Amino acid sequence: MEKFDFLEKELNELKEKGTYNIIRVLESAQGPWVTINGKKMLNLCANNYLGVITNEEVKTKAKEAIDEFGVGAGAVRTIAGTLTLHEELEKKLAEFKHADAVILFQSGLITNIAVIPIVVSEGDLIFSDELNHASIIDGCRLSKATIVRYKHLDVDDLKSKLEDYKDYKVRKLIVTDGVFSMDGDIAPLPQIVELAEQYGAITMVDDAHGEGVLGDHGRGILSYFNLEGKVDIDVGTLSKAFGVIGGYVAGSKTLIDYLKQRARPFLFSTPLSPGDTAALIKVVDILQEDDSLVKKLWDNGNYIKEQLKSYGFNIGHSQTPITPVIIGDEKTTMEFSKLLFEEGIFAQGIVFPTVPRGTARIRVMVSAAHSKEDIDFGVKKFVEIGKALGVIK
Ligand SMILES: Cc1ncc(COP(=O)(O)O)c(C=O)c1O
Repeated sequence: MEKFDFLEKELNELKEKGTYNIIRVLESAQGPWVTINGKKMLNLCANNYLGVITNEEVKTKAKEAIDEFGVGAGAVRTIAGTLTLHEELEKKLAEFKHADAVILFQSGLITNIAVIPIVVSEGDLIFSDELNHASIIDGCRLSKATIVRYKHLDVDDLKSKLEDYKDYKVRKLIVTDGVFSMDGDIAPLPQIVELAEQYGAITMVDDAHGEGVLGDHGRGILSYFNLEGKVDIDVGTLSKAFGVIGGYVAGSKTLIDYLKQRARPFLFSTPLSPGDTAALIKVVDILQEDDSLVKKLWDNGNYIKEQLKSYGFNIGHSQTPITPVIIGDEKTTMEFSKLLFEEGIFAQGIVFPTVPRGTARIRVMVSAAHSKEDIDFGVKKFVEIGKALGVIK
C-alpha cells in the first residue's frame, strides 16, 4: 500500500465526477487574448479588471525598479529593513483610499489570515457572511474565535444573530466580502456599519473585487457607499484590478502600527519584490489621475451582461462587471467550459467547493482591455454551445 492511496482515491473520484481541475498553461501574458497550446484564445477568466498587467508604463516601472533594487526584498521587513518602495506604496495606497495608514502583505489571502487573528481570539465572536471568501474563513478559523454565519447579504439575519449574543461581553467582529467574487453582488455595508455601531462590533470588509472597480476612480466599496473612515478594517488585494500581487490593510494608525509589530506574515515572511512594488505604485498613480479604465470596465461588463441575458442565460444577481453564467449541474458546466475551449474561448467552469453545490457556473470576466468585437465573439460561442447543451433554448 502506498502512503498516499487515500489521496489517489479522492483524485479518481474527482475525475469520475468530471470535476477534476484541468490547469491550463498559458504561453503568453494574461491579456484579453492568450495563447494556449499554440492557439490564440479569448480570455474570459482573469481578474485583470483594468487590463494593467500588460500596461507599458507599469511594466517600465517594474523594470526600472529591478535595475535599481534587484529582484528580491531580502528578508522580512523587521529583520532586513523595508525598501523605500514599500513605504511609498503604503503611503500612496493610504492617500488613494483616504485612509489613515496602510500595511502591505504578500497576497490578499495572507492579508485576511494576518489581520483576523489580531483583532479576535478564543472566546470572541465573528459574524461572517455565509459566502465569504475561503481566506476570510481561514482567518476566522485561525483566530479560534466562535464563528456565527449569517445568511448571504441578509441584514435581518445578521441583526437577529447579533441580538442572540448581545449579552456576551466579548470582542465581536462582523466580516464580509465587499463584492462577492463568484456572484458579483455587493455587501449591504451601510446597514452592516449601522448594526456594528448598535451592537459594539468591529467591522471588516474584504474589498478584493471592489478595488479598482467600485467608487470614485475605483477607490473601492467604502467610496461607493460614502463610508470612508467608517469601516474599521479595509482589506485590499493587489492581484486583481491592480494586476500584480499582494494585499493590504487600510485602517487607523493604531491598527496598522500593531499589525507591524504582531501580524505573523509581516514578521515571518518576506515582502513584495521591488518590481512588483514599483509596478503597483504606477497602477495607483494611473487610477488617481484617470478613471477611464474603470469606466471602460463597466461599459464592457454591462454590455456582456445585457447580451447574455437577452439570450436567456441565468446570470444571477451581479451588480458589478463579474458575470456568473449559472448552469447548476457540475458535469454540464465542465462540458460547457470544455466546448468553449475547443471554440477558442478560455472561460473556466467553477464548481463546489468554490461555489455551493447545485450552483456550478462559468465565471465570465471581461476587462477594460477587451473590445466590443471580442465580447461579440464570446457571446456568439456561448449561445451556440448553450443551445447545443440545452442550457438555453
Ligand atoms: C474576496 C477575496 N479575497 C481574497 C482573495 C485572495 O486574493 P489573492 O489572490 O491576492 O491572494 C480573493 C481571491 O480570489 C478573493 O476573491
